[in-house]
Amino acid sequence: MKTFTNIFLGLFIFEAILAAPTIHTLTYDSETYDVALEDLDNLYDYDENIHVDHAENDSSLRQFSGSLEYLTSAPSMSTKQKEAEEEASTPKLIDGSSPHEPGVLGPQTHDGLPTCLLCTCLGTTVYCDDHELDAVPPLPKETTHFYSRYNRIKKINKNDFANQNDLKRIDLTSNFISEIDEDAFRQLPQLQELVLRDNKIRQLPELPPTLTFIDVSNNRLGRKGIKEEAFKDMVDLHHLYITDNNLDHIPLPLPESLQALHLQNNNIQQMHEDTFCKMKDVSYARRSLEDIRLDGNPINLSKTPSAYMCLPRLPIGSLI
Ligand SMILES: *[C@@H]1O[C@H](CO)[C@@H](O)[C@H](O)[C@H]1NC(C)=O
Ligand SMILES: *[C@@H]1O[C@H](CO)[C@@H](O)[C@H](O)[C@H]1NC(C)=O
Repeated sequence: MKTFTNIFLGLFIFEAILAAPTIHTLTYDSETYDVALEDLDNLYDYDENIHVDHAENDSSLRQFSGSLEYLTSAPSMSTKQKEAEEEASTPKLIDGSSPHEPGVLGPQTHDGLPTCLLCTCLGTTVYCDDHELDAVPPLPKETTHFYSRYNRIKKINKNDFANQNDLKRIDLTSNFISEIDEDAFRQLPQLQELVLRDNKIRQLPELPPTLTFIDVSNNRLGRKGIKEEAFKDMVDLHHLYITDNNLDHIPLPLPESLQALHLQNNNIQQMHEDTFCKMKDVSYARRSLEDIRLDGNPINLSKTPSAYMCLPRLPIGSLI
C-alpha cells in the first residue's frame, strides 16, 4: 500500500512539474496583464471549425471546413458536403488556411506571414510585443486581447481594427504612435481597456463608450488633444490615466463610475469648485473616486478648499 501511495505521489509530482512551465509561460507580466483563465480553456479551441468536440450532431459536422471535412465527407454526399469539399480543394497555405479564409495561424500580414506565426496567439489573445512591427498586423476575427508593446508603430489606421467585434483590450504601450485615425476605435462594440501610454499622440480620437480603463499617459496631448466631454458617456469608466501630457485642464465631466484619476506631471494650474463636487448640492457624494493624483502640476489645492467635500479622500498634490 505504501509503495502504491509513493508511486501515486511520484506521478502526481511529476505531472505537477510538467504542468508548471505551461502556467508560467501564460502568466504574462505584471498582474494587470495576466492572461485570463478563460484563455487557458480556449488554448486548443482556437479554430472551432477543426475542433471535433464541437461536432455535437450531424448538421454541425457538415459545416466543417478544411481537411477534416475532406475526410469525413466520403460515404453519402449532400449538396452542402459537396460545396464544402470544393472549398477544401482550393489551395491551402502551410497552416491550413486558404487565401480567402484565414486558418489557425490567423490572417496574413503584409510580409506574407500569418499573424500567429509572426506573433503568439494563445486562445483569443494575440501577443506581438517587441517584434519591430511598424503597423498593426491583421488580427484573427475572434481576438479578444491584443498586445503590441515595444514596437515601431507610427500610425493607427481606420481599418486596423475593423470588424474586431470581440476585441476587449488593446495595448500599444511604447510605440511611436503620433497619429490615430478618428474612426480607429469608435466602432469596437466590446472594447473595455485601451492602453496607449508612452507614445507621441497629439490628439485622442473618438472613443467607444464601453471603455472601463484608459491609459494615455506620457503622450503629447497638451491643451487640445482631448475633445470636450470626451469621457462623459463612459458610464463604466473606472480608471483614467493621463499623466505626463502637458495637459492644462482637468477633462470634464468625469463619469460617476470613475475610481482613479491620475493627472500627475501636467501643466494644470487651476481647478473649479465644481470639478469633482456640486456646490449647489451639499448632499452630493462622489463615492467611487478614491484616487486622484495632481502632484507634479503647478496647482495650489489650498485655493479651492470646498472642492473636495464630496470626495472620500483628498486629492494628492501640492497644498501650499
Ligand atoms: C444540431 O445542430 C443544429 C445546427 O447547428 C442545431 O440547430 C440543433 O439544435 C442541433 N441539435 C442537437 C440535438 O444538438
Ligand atoms: C496656496 O493657497 C493658499 C490659500 O489661498 C495660500 O495661503 C498660499 O499662499 C498659496 N501658496 C502659493 C505658493 O501660492
